[in-house]
Amino acid sequence: MPNLMLIIEDEPLFGSELQRHYRRQGWEVVWVKTLASAEEELNNKSLDPLIILSDMNLPDGNGLDLLEKLRQLQSDGEWIFLTGYGSVPDSVRALRLGAYDFLTKPCDQGRLDVVVAGAARSARAQRRLQEESHNRATQFSWDAFVGRSQSARQVREMLSKLTAVPFSALIITGETGTGKGLSARILHHGGSRSSGPLIEINCAALPHDLLESELFGHEAGAFTGAKGRRRGLMEQADGGTLFLDEIGEMNLELQAKLLKAIEERKLRRLGGDREISVDIQVVAATNQNLKRDVEKGRFRADLYHRLSVFHLDLPPLRNSKEDLYDLVPQFIAEYNIKAVKHVKEIPEEAWQRLTAHHWPGNVRELRNVIERCVLFSNGEQLPVQWLQLGPIEATSAQVEGDRICLPLNGSMALDDMDRHIIETALARNKYNVTATARALGTTRETLRYRINKYGLEQRVSQGRE
Ligand SMILES: Nc1ncnc2c1ncn2[C@@H]1O[C@H](COP(=O)(O)OP(=O)(O)OP(=O)(O)O)[C@@H](O)[C@H]1O
Ligand SMILES: [Mg+2]
Repeated sequence: MPNLMLIIEDEPLFGSELQRHYRRQGWEVVWVKTLASAEEELNNKSLDPLIILSDMNLPDGNGLDLLEKLRQLQSDGEWIFLTGYGSVPDSVRALRLGAYDFLTKPCDQGRLDVVVAGAARSARAQRRLQEESHNRATQFSWDAFVGRSQSARQVREMLSKLTAVPFSALIITGETGTGKGLSARILHHGGSRSSGPLIEINCAALPHDLLESELFGHEAGAFTGAKGRRRGLMEQADGGTLFLDEIGEMNLELQAKLLKAIEERKLRRLGGDREISVDIQVVAATNQNLKRDVEKGRFRADLYHRLSVFHLDLPPLRNSKEDLYDLVPQFIAEYNIKAVKHVKEIPEEAWQRLTAHHWPGNVRELRNVIERCVLFSNGEQLPVQWLQLGPIEATSAQVEGDRICLPLNGSMALDDMDRHIIETALARNKYNVTATARALGTTRETLRYRINKYGLEQRVSQGRE
Protein backbone atom coordinates (compact mmCIF):
# COMPACT_ATOMS: atom_id res chain seq x y z
CA MET A 1 0.00 0.00 0.00
CA PRO A 2 1.80 3.14 -1.08
CA ASN A 3 1.76 6.33 0.98
CA LEU A 4 -0.58 5.35 3.73
CA MET A 5 -0.76 7.57 6.79
CA LEU A 6 -2.41 6.72 10.08
CA ILE A 7 -3.48 9.70 12.18
CA ILE A 8 -4.23 9.13 15.86
CA GLU A 9 -5.87 12.28 17.18
CA ASP A 10 -8.85 12.71 19.50
CA GLU A 11 -9.42 16.41 18.85
CA PRO A 12 -12.06 16.40 16.06
CA LEU A 13 -11.21 19.73 14.47
CA PHE A 14 -7.46 19.21 14.36
CA GLY A 15 -7.83 15.61 13.24
CA SER A 16 -10.10 16.40 10.32
CA GLU A 17 -7.89 19.29 9.30
CA LEU A 18 -4.84 17.03 9.19
CA GLN A 19 -6.77 14.41 7.29
CA ARG A 20 -7.95 16.90 4.69
CA HIS A 21 -4.50 18.42 4.34
CA TYR A 22 -2.66 15.16 3.74
CA ARG A 23 -5.36 13.74 1.48
CA ARG A 24 -4.92 16.79 -0.69
CA GLN A 25 -1.20 16.03 -0.79
CA GLY A 26 -1.94 12.59 -2.19
CA TRP A 27 -1.76 10.50 0.96
CA GLU A 28 -4.21 7.79 1.71
CA VAL A 29 -5.23 8.70 5.26
CA VAL A 30 -6.85 6.63 8.00
CA TRP A 31 -7.87 8.67 11.02
CA VAL A 32 -8.70 7.12 14.40
CA LYS A 33 -9.46 8.79 17.72
CA THR A 34 -8.27 6.26 20.28
CA LEU A 35 -5.30 4.01 20.89
CA ALA A 36 -7.57 0.98 20.94
CA SER A 37 -8.81 1.64 17.43
CA ALA A 38 -5.26 2.46 16.26
CA GLU A 39 -4.08 -0.85 17.64
CA GLU A 40 -6.90 -2.65 15.93
CA GLU A 41 -6.13 -1.04 12.60
CA LEU A 42 -2.43 -1.89 12.90
CA ASN A 43 -2.73 -5.35 14.36
CA ASN A 44 -5.93 -6.97 13.31
CA LYS A 45 -6.56 -5.23 10.06
CA SER A 46 -2.82 -5.34 9.45
CA LEU A 47 -2.72 -1.85 8.08
CA ASP A 48 0.85 -1.05 7.14
CA PRO A 49 1.21 2.74 7.20
CA LEU A 50 4.36 4.52 6.11
CA ILE A 51 3.73 7.26 8.67
CA ILE A 52 1.93 7.26 12.00
CA LEU A 53 1.10 10.78 13.10
CA SER A 54 0.04 10.50 16.70
CA ASP A 55 -1.13 12.69 19.52
CA MET A 56 0.54 11.81 22.81
CA ASN A 57 -2.30 12.04 25.33
CA LEU A 58 -5.29 10.13 24.12
CA PRO A 59 -8.49 9.28 25.96
CA ASP A 60 -7.37 5.71 26.54
CA GLY A 61 -3.70 6.23 27.29
CA ASN A 62 -0.31 7.47 26.09
CA GLY A 63 0.68 7.11 22.43
CA LEU A 64 4.18 6.10 23.46
CA ASP A 65 2.87 2.94 25.10
CA LEU A 66 1.38 1.85 21.81
CA LEU A 67 4.63 2.56 19.99
CA GLU A 68 6.51 0.51 22.55
CA LYS A 69 4.11 -2.38 22.16
CA LEU A 70 4.25 -2.32 18.36
CA ARG A 71 8.01 -1.95 18.07
CA GLN A 72 8.23 -5.59 19.10
CA LEU A 73 6.10 -6.45 16.10
CA GLN A 74 8.72 -4.76 13.97
CA SER A 75 6.41 -2.61 11.94
CA ASP A 76 8.50 -0.33 9.75
CA GLY A 77 6.41 2.86 9.62
CA GLU A 78 7.86 6.05 11.10
CA TRP A 79 6.16 7.63 14.12
CA ILE A 80 5.79 11.38 14.55
CA PHE A 81 4.36 12.65 17.83
CA LEU A 82 2.41 15.86 18.17
CA THR A 83 1.57 16.95 21.66
CA GLY A 84 -0.04 19.88 23.43
CA TYR A 85 1.95 19.38 26.59
CA GLY A 86 5.38 18.19 25.62
CA SER A 87 7.58 17.15 28.49
CA VAL A 88 11.29 16.43 28.30
CA PRO A 89 11.03 12.87 29.66
CA ASP A 90 8.31 12.11 27.08
CA SER A 91 10.39 13.40 24.22
CA VAL A 92 13.41 11.46 25.42
CA ARG A 93 11.34 8.30 25.67
CA ALA A 94 9.85 8.90 22.22
CA LEU A 95 13.25 9.17 20.60
CA ARG A 96 14.60 6.22 22.52
CA LEU A 97 11.72 4.13 21.24
CA GLY A 98 12.76 5.10 17.75
CA ALA A 99 10.13 7.74 16.98
CA TYR A 100 11.11 9.88 14.01
CA ASP A 101 10.25 13.21 15.61
CA PHE A 102 8.46 14.85 18.49
CA LEU A 103 6.73 18.19 17.88
CA THR A 104 4.74 20.44 20.20
CA LYS A 105 1.37 21.89 19.22
CA PRO A 106 0.52 24.28 17.83
CA CYS A 107 2.83 23.30 15.05
CA ASP A 108 3.33 25.19 11.85
CA GLN A 109 1.90 23.17 8.94
CA GLY A 110 4.91 23.89 6.75
CA ARG A 111 7.26 22.52 9.39
CA LEU A 112 5.12 19.43 9.86
CA ASP A 113 5.15 18.85 6.08
CA VAL A 114 8.95 18.87 6.07
CA VAL A 115 9.07 16.39 8.95
CA VAL A 116 6.48 14.14 7.27
CA ALA A 117 8.43 14.16 3.99
CA GLY A 118 11.65 13.20 5.78
CA ALA A 119 9.91 10.45 7.75
CA ALA A 120 8.34 9.07 4.56
CA ARG A 121 11.74 8.92 2.87
CA SER A 122 13.22 7.13 5.84
CA ALA A 123 10.33 4.65 6.06
CA ARG A 124 10.56 3.87 2.33
CA ALA A 125 14.30 3.29 2.60
CA GLN A 126 13.78 0.93 5.53
CA ARG A 127 11.10 -0.93 3.67
CA ARG A 128 13.37 -1.35 0.65
CA LEU A 129 16.17 -2.67 2.84
CA GLN A 130 13.84 -5.11 4.56
CA GLU A 131 12.55 -6.36 1.23
CA GLU A 132 16.04 -6.78 -0.15
CA SER A 133 17.27 -8.70 2.83
CA HIS A 134 14.12 -10.82 2.78
CA ASN A 135 14.65 -11.58 -0.92
CA ARG A 136 18.26 -12.48 -0.31
CA ALA A 137 17.33 -14.66 2.62
CA THR A 138 14.89 -16.67 0.48
CA GLN A 139 17.18 -16.67 -2.54
CA PHE A 140 20.05 -17.93 -0.40
CA SER A 141 18.35 -20.15 2.13
CA TRP A 142 20.04 -23.55 2.56
CA ASP A 143 17.59 -25.20 0.18
CA ALA A 144 18.99 -23.04 -2.63
CA PHE A 145 21.64 -25.77 -2.74
CA VAL A 146 19.80 -28.18 -4.98
CA GLY A 147 20.23 -31.94 -5.41
CA ARG A 148 18.83 -35.27 -4.27
CA SER A 149 22.13 -37.14 -3.94
CA GLN A 150 23.32 -38.19 -0.54
CA SER A 151 26.20 -35.71 -0.78
CA ALA A 152 23.94 -32.80 -1.73
CA ARG A 153 21.69 -33.65 1.19
CA GLN A 154 24.65 -33.70 3.50
CA VAL A 155 25.75 -30.32 2.19
CA ARG A 156 22.29 -28.89 2.84
CA GLU A 157 22.26 -30.35 6.31
CA MET A 158 25.66 -28.84 7.05
CA LEU A 159 24.56 -25.48 5.65
CA SER A 160 21.44 -25.44 7.78
CA LYS A 161 23.47 -26.39 10.87
CA LEU A 162 26.18 -23.86 10.16
CA THR A 163 23.77 -20.99 9.59
CA ALA A 164 22.38 -21.64 13.07
CA VAL A 165 25.69 -21.37 14.95
CA PRO A 166 28.24 -18.59 15.23
CA PHE A 167 31.48 -19.85 13.69
CA SER A 168 34.54 -17.71 13.18
CA ALA A 169 36.16 -19.57 10.29
CA LEU A 170 35.26 -22.26 7.83
CA ILE A 171 36.62 -23.80 4.66
CA ILE A 172 34.75 -24.84 1.54
CA THR A 173 36.54 -27.19 -0.83
CA GLY A 174 35.39 -28.47 -4.17
CA GLU A 175 36.25 -28.44 -7.85
CA THR A 176 35.44 -25.45 -9.98
CA GLY A 177 31.71 -24.85 -10.43
CA THR A 178 30.57 -27.07 -7.56
CA GLY A 179 28.83 -24.26 -5.69
CA LYS A 180 31.48 -22.82 -3.37
CA GLY A 181 30.41 -19.25 -4.06
CA LEU A 182 26.76 -20.24 -3.69
CA SER A 183 27.47 -21.93 -0.35
CA ALA A 184 29.35 -18.88 0.94
CA ARG A 185 26.34 -16.69 0.10
CA ILE A 186 23.97 -19.12 1.78
CA LEU A 187 26.16 -19.13 4.89
CA HIS A 188 26.15 -15.36 5.05
CA HIS A 189 22.60 -14.46 4.05
CA GLY A 190 21.04 -17.39 5.89
CA GLY A 191 22.99 -16.84 9.11
CA SER A 192 22.88 -14.43 12.00
CA ARG A 193 25.19 -11.98 10.23
CA SER A 194 22.89 -11.42 7.28
CA SER A 195 22.26 -7.82 8.20
CA GLY A 196 26.01 -7.18 8.16
CA PRO A 197 28.14 -6.93 5.01
CA LEU A 198 29.39 -9.82 2.88
CA ILE A 199 32.78 -8.83 1.50
CA GLU A 200 34.32 -11.04 -1.19
CA ILE A 201 37.85 -11.14 -2.45
CA ASN A 202 39.55 -13.51 -4.82
CA CYS A 203 43.07 -14.11 -3.54
CA ALA A 204 44.26 -15.23 -6.97
CA ALA A 205 43.19 -11.99 -8.62
CA LEU A 206 45.74 -9.67 -6.99
CA PRO A 207 49.52 -9.61 -6.55
CA HIS A 208 50.58 -10.41 -2.96
CA ASP A 209 51.38 -6.95 -1.67
CA LEU A 210 48.23 -5.49 -3.13
CA LEU A 211 46.21 -8.30 -1.58
CA GLU A 212 47.74 -7.49 1.79
CA SER A 213 46.85 -3.80 1.64
CA GLU A 214 43.38 -4.63 0.30
CA LEU A 215 42.76 -6.93 3.25
CA PHE A 216 44.39 -4.98 6.05
CA GLY A 217 44.12 -1.41 4.77
CA HIS A 218 46.89 1.11 5.21
CA GLU A 219 47.79 4.44 6.75
CA ALA A 220 48.93 7.39 4.67
CA GLY A 221 52.45 6.84 3.33
CA ALA A 222 52.63 3.20 4.46
CA PHE A 223 54.31 2.34 1.18
CA THR A 224 55.20 4.14 -2.04
CA GLY A 225 51.99 5.16 -3.67
CA ALA A 226 49.84 4.77 -0.55
CA LYS A 227 47.84 7.95 -0.79
CA GLY A 228 45.77 8.72 2.25
CA ARG A 229 44.54 6.11 4.68
CA ARG A 230 42.33 3.28 3.64
CA ARG A 231 40.16 0.85 5.55
CA GLY A 232 40.89 -2.69 4.47
CA LEU A 233 38.32 -5.30 3.50
CA MET A 234 38.60 -6.97 6.90
CA GLU A 235 37.52 -3.76 8.56
CA GLN A 236 34.78 -3.31 6.01
CA ALA A 237 33.50 -6.80 6.79
CA ASP A 238 33.11 -5.92 10.48
CA GLY A 239 29.85 -7.41 11.78
CA GLY A 240 29.55 -9.56 8.68
CA THR A 241 31.39 -12.14 6.61
CA LEU A 242 34.70 -12.06 4.74
CA PHE A 243 34.69 -14.51 1.83
CA LEU A 244 38.25 -15.37 0.77
CA ASP A 245 37.98 -17.18 -2.54
CA GLU A 246 40.96 -19.25 -3.78
CA ILE A 247 42.71 -19.03 -0.44
CA GLY A 248 45.29 -21.55 -1.67
CA GLU A 249 46.83 -18.71 -3.67
CA MET A 250 47.65 -16.62 -0.61
CA ASN A 251 51.35 -16.53 0.25
CA LEU A 252 52.69 -17.93 3.52
CA GLU A 253 53.48 -14.57 5.08
CA LEU A 254 50.01 -13.23 4.53
CA GLN A 255 48.54 -16.51 5.75
CA ALA A 256 50.29 -15.91 9.07
CA LYS A 257 48.85 -12.41 9.35
CA LEU A 258 45.41 -13.67 8.49
CA LEU A 259 45.56 -16.39 11.12
CA LYS A 260 46.63 -13.87 13.74
CA ALA A 261 43.76 -11.57 12.84
CA ILE A 262 41.25 -14.42 13.01
CA GLU A 263 42.52 -15.63 16.37
CA GLU A 264 42.95 -12.27 18.06
CA ARG A 265 40.04 -10.56 16.32
CA LYS A 266 42.33 -7.60 15.87
CA LEU A 267 44.41 -6.18 13.08
CA ARG A 268 46.79 -3.42 12.25
CA ARG A 269 46.65 -1.40 9.06
CA LEU A 270 49.87 -1.37 7.04
CA GLY A 271 52.05 1.39 8.44
CA GLY A 272 49.72 1.73 11.43
CA ASP A 273 50.50 1.14 15.10
CA ARG A 274 46.96 1.07 16.42
CA GLU A 275 45.21 -2.26 16.87
CA ILE A 276 41.71 -2.28 15.44
CA SER A 277 39.14 -4.78 16.70
CA VAL A 278 37.13 -6.56 14.06
CA ASP A 279 34.28 -8.97 14.46
CA ILE A 280 34.26 -11.08 11.32
CA GLN A 281 33.36 -14.55 10.18
CA VAL A 282 35.80 -15.91 7.61
CA VAL A 283 34.62 -18.23 4.86
CA ALA A 284 37.54 -19.47 2.77
CA ALA A 285 37.20 -21.46 -0.44
CA THR A 286 39.60 -23.39 -2.61
CA ASN A 287 39.56 -25.85 -5.47
CA GLN A 288 43.03 -27.07 -4.53
CA ASN A 289 44.00 -29.91 -2.29
CA LEU A 290 45.05 -27.86 0.73
CA LYS A 291 46.07 -30.89 2.73
CA ARG A 292 48.64 -31.74 0.09
CA ASP A 293 49.71 -28.10 -0.02
CA VAL A 294 50.26 -28.30 3.73
CA GLU A 295 52.43 -31.40 3.33
CA LYS A 296 54.45 -29.68 0.64
CA GLY A 297 54.87 -26.57 2.80
CA ARG A 298 52.87 -24.36 0.48
CA PHE A 299 50.11 -23.76 2.98
CA ARG A 300 50.48 -23.14 6.71
CA ALA A 301 49.36 -26.08 8.82
CA ASP A 302 48.12 -23.84 11.64
CA LEU A 303 45.89 -21.81 9.34
CA TYR A 304 44.66 -24.99 7.69
CA HIS A 305 43.67 -26.44 11.06
CA ARG A 306 42.03 -23.22 12.14
CA LEU A 307 39.95 -23.06 8.97
CA SER A 308 39.08 -26.73 8.78
CA VAL A 309 37.35 -26.94 12.16
CA PHE A 310 34.30 -26.60 9.94
CA HIS A 311 34.81 -28.09 6.52
CA LEU A 312 32.29 -28.18 3.73
CA ASP A 313 33.38 -30.42 0.88
CA LEU A 314 31.32 -30.11 -2.28
CA PRO A 315 31.02 -33.15 -4.54
CA PRO A 316 31.85 -33.03 -8.23
CA LEU A 317 28.75 -33.43 -10.38
CA ARG A 318 30.05 -36.61 -12.03
CA ASN A 319 29.88 -38.36 -8.65
CA SER A 320 26.32 -37.28 -7.95
CA LYS A 321 24.68 -37.36 -11.32
CA GLU A 322 21.26 -37.98 -9.84
CA ASP A 323 21.35 -34.29 -8.91
CA LEU A 324 20.84 -33.61 -12.61
CA TYR A 325 17.19 -34.54 -12.17
CA ASP A 326 16.79 -31.54 -9.85
CA LEU A 327 19.28 -29.11 -11.35
CA VAL A 328 18.22 -29.41 -14.99
CA PRO A 329 14.51 -28.58 -14.42
CA GLN A 330 15.50 -25.75 -12.08
CA PHE A 331 17.86 -24.14 -14.61
CA ILE A 332 15.32 -24.63 -17.41
CA ALA A 333 12.68 -22.84 -15.31
CA GLU A 334 15.12 -20.04 -14.55
CA TYR A 335 16.07 -19.44 -18.20
CA ASN A 336 12.46 -19.87 -19.37
CA ILE A 337 11.64 -16.85 -17.25
CA LYS A 338 14.73 -14.86 -18.22
CA ALA A 339 14.40 -15.49 -21.96
CA VAL A 340 10.58 -15.81 -22.13
CA LYS A 341 10.80 -19.40 -23.41
CA HIS A 342 8.52 -22.35 -22.77
CA VAL A 343 10.67 -25.45 -22.49
CA LYS A 344 8.77 -28.14 -20.61
CA GLU A 345 9.94 -31.41 -22.00
CA ILE A 346 13.32 -33.06 -21.73
CA PRO A 347 13.64 -35.80 -24.34
CA GLU A 348 15.04 -39.15 -23.26
CA GLU A 349 18.05 -38.64 -25.51
CA ALA A 350 18.90 -35.42 -23.69
CA TRP A 351 18.82 -37.25 -20.36
CA GLN A 352 21.07 -39.93 -21.78
CA ARG A 353 23.62 -37.40 -22.92
CA LEU A 354 23.42 -35.34 -19.75
CA THR A 355 23.91 -38.36 -17.52
CA ALA A 356 26.72 -39.77 -19.65
CA HIS A 357 28.74 -36.55 -19.66
CA HIS A 358 31.71 -36.25 -17.32
CA TRP A 359 31.02 -32.60 -16.27
CA PRO A 360 34.55 -31.29 -15.71
CA GLY A 361 33.08 -27.80 -15.13
CA ASN A 362 30.45 -29.20 -12.76
CA VAL A 363 27.24 -27.27 -12.06
CA ARG A 364 28.50 -24.11 -13.74
CA GLU A 365 29.08 -26.05 -16.95
CA LEU A 366 25.61 -27.55 -16.64
CA ARG A 367 24.06 -24.14 -16.10
CA ASN A 368 25.75 -22.81 -19.24
CA VAL A 369 24.67 -25.81 -21.32
CA ILE A 370 21.05 -25.43 -20.20
CA GLU A 371 21.13 -21.70 -20.80
CA ARG A 372 22.26 -22.27 -24.38
CA CYS A 373 19.59 -24.92 -24.99
CA VAL A 374 16.78 -22.81 -23.57
CA LEU A 375 17.86 -19.69 -25.48
CA PHE A 376 17.95 -21.63 -28.75
CA SER A 377 14.74 -23.53 -28.02
CA ASN A 378 11.74 -23.31 -30.26
CA GLY A 379 8.73 -24.63 -28.46
CA GLU A 380 8.38 -27.00 -25.56
CA GLN A 381 11.21 -29.47 -26.15
CA LEU A 382 14.75 -29.01 -24.92
CA PRO A 383 16.75 -29.03 -28.18
CA VAL A 384 19.18 -31.95 -27.97
CA GLN A 385 21.39 -30.61 -30.77
CA TRP A 386 22.39 -27.66 -28.63
CA LEU A 387 23.64 -29.74 -25.72
CA GLN A 388 26.94 -30.08 -27.59
CA LEU A 389 28.58 -32.05 -24.86
CA GLY A 390 32.01 -32.54 -26.36
CA PRO A 391 33.79 -35.89 -26.47
CA ILE A 392 35.42 -37.00 -23.26
CA GLU A 393 39.20 -37.20 -23.11
CA ALA A 394 40.64 -40.32 -24.70
CA THR A 395 42.04 -41.59 -21.40
CA SER A 396 38.66 -42.01 -19.81
CA ALA A 397 35.60 -43.99 -20.70
CA GLN A 398 33.19 -42.67 -23.31
CA VAL A 399 29.55 -43.33 -23.77
CA GLU A 400 28.26 -43.37 -27.32
CA GLY A 401 24.59 -44.08 -27.72
CA ASP A 402 24.05 -47.53 -26.23
CA ARG A 403 27.74 -48.30 -26.00
CA ILE A 404 30.54 -47.59 -23.59
CA CYS A 405 34.05 -47.25 -24.91
CA LEU A 406 36.84 -48.06 -22.44
CA PRO A 407 40.55 -47.27 -22.76
CA LEU A 408 42.92 -50.24 -22.90
CA ASN A 409 46.10 -48.23 -22.42
CA GLY A 410 46.40 -48.69 -18.67
CA SER A 411 44.82 -45.35 -17.85
CA MET A 412 41.81 -46.99 -16.27
CA ALA A 413 41.88 -49.87 -13.79
CA LEU A 414 39.55 -52.85 -14.21
CA ASP A 415 37.60 -51.98 -11.08
CA ASP A 416 37.13 -48.42 -12.32
CA MET A 417 35.80 -49.77 -15.58
CA ASP A 418 33.39 -52.00 -13.72
CA ARG A 419 32.26 -49.13 -11.56
CA HIS A 420 31.92 -46.85 -14.57
CA ILE A 421 29.75 -49.36 -16.42
CA ILE A 422 27.47 -49.80 -13.44
CA GLU A 423 27.23 -46.08 -12.72
CA THR A 424 26.45 -45.24 -16.31
CA ALA A 425 23.84 -47.96 -16.61
CA LEU A 426 22.24 -46.91 -13.31
CA ALA A 427 22.09 -43.26 -14.33
CA ARG A 428 20.52 -44.21 -17.64
CA ASN A 429 17.88 -46.27 -15.95
CA LYS A 430 17.12 -43.56 -13.43
CA TYR A 431 18.65 -45.65 -10.64
CA ASN A 432 16.10 -48.37 -10.98
CA VAL A 433 17.89 -51.60 -10.05
CA THR A 434 15.61 -53.99 -11.92
CA ALA A 435 15.84 -52.02 -15.16
CA THR A 436 19.61 -51.65 -14.78
CA ALA A 437 20.11 -55.36 -14.15
CA ARG A 438 18.09 -56.09 -17.29
CA ALA A 439 20.19 -53.65 -19.32
CA LEU A 440 23.40 -55.29 -18.11
CA GLY A 441 22.07 -58.82 -18.61
CA THR A 442 22.62 -59.75 -14.98
CA THR A 443 20.57 -60.48 -11.89
CA ARG A 444 19.42 -57.97 -9.34
CA GLU A 445 21.48 -59.80 -6.70
CA THR A 446 24.71 -59.54 -8.65
CA LEU A 447 24.03 -55.90 -9.36
CA ARG A 448 23.20 -55.23 -5.68
CA TYR A 449 26.53 -56.77 -4.68
CA ARG A 450 28.42 -54.43 -7.01
CA ILE A 451 26.36 -51.43 -5.98
CA ASN A 452 27.41 -52.07 -2.39
CA LYS A 453 30.99 -52.74 -3.39
CA TYR A 454 31.25 -49.35 -5.10
CA GLY A 455 29.28 -47.47 -2.44
CA LEU A 456 26.44 -46.52 -4.77
CA GLU A 457 23.58 -47.62 -2.46
CA GLN A 458 22.49 -44.13 -1.55
CA ARG A 459 21.94 -43.16 -5.12
CA VAL A 460 19.86 -46.21 -5.83
CA SER A 461 17.58 -45.68 -2.88
CA GLN A 462 16.96 -42.11 -4.02
CA GLY A 463 16.48 -42.97 -7.68
CA ARG A 464 13.17 -42.70 -9.41
CA GLU A 465 11.49 -46.05 -9.41
N1 LIG B 1 23.88 -27.48 -5.75
C1 LIG B 1 23.57 -26.41 -6.48
N2 LIG B 1 22.28 -26.00 -6.61
C2 LIG B 1 21.96 -24.95 -7.36
N3 LIG B 1 22.83 -24.21 -8.05
C3 LIG B 1 24.12 -24.55 -7.97
C4 LIG B 1 24.56 -25.64 -7.18
N4 LIG B 1 25.90 -25.73 -7.27
C5 LIG B 1 26.28 -24.74 -8.07
N5 LIG B 1 25.23 -24.01 -8.50
C6 LIG B 1 25.26 -22.89 -9.44
O1 LIG B 1 26.32 -23.14 -10.34
C7 LIG B 1 27.04 -21.97 -10.63
C8 LIG B 1 28.49 -22.13 -10.21
O2 LIG B 1 28.57 -22.19 -8.79
P1 LIG B 1 29.64 -21.35 -7.95
O3 LIG B 1 29.97 -20.08 -8.63
O4 LIG B 1 29.15 -21.28 -6.56
O5 LIG B 1 30.86 -22.36 -8.06
P2 LIG B 1 32.32 -22.28 -7.41
O6 LIG B 1 32.50 -23.57 -6.69
O7 LIG B 1 32.44 -21.02 -6.63
O8 LIG B 1 33.25 -22.27 -8.69
P3 LIG B 1 34.76 -21.65 -8.87
O9 LIG B 1 35.70 -22.54 -8.13
O10 LIG B 1 34.97 -21.74 -10.34
O11 LIG B 1 34.71 -20.27 -8.34
C9 LIG B 1 26.33 -20.85 -9.89
O12 LIG B 1 25.42 -20.28 -10.78
C10 LIG B 1 25.61 -21.57 -8.78
O13 LIG B 1 24.47 -20.86 -8.37
MG1 LIG C 1 33.56 -19.28 -7.00
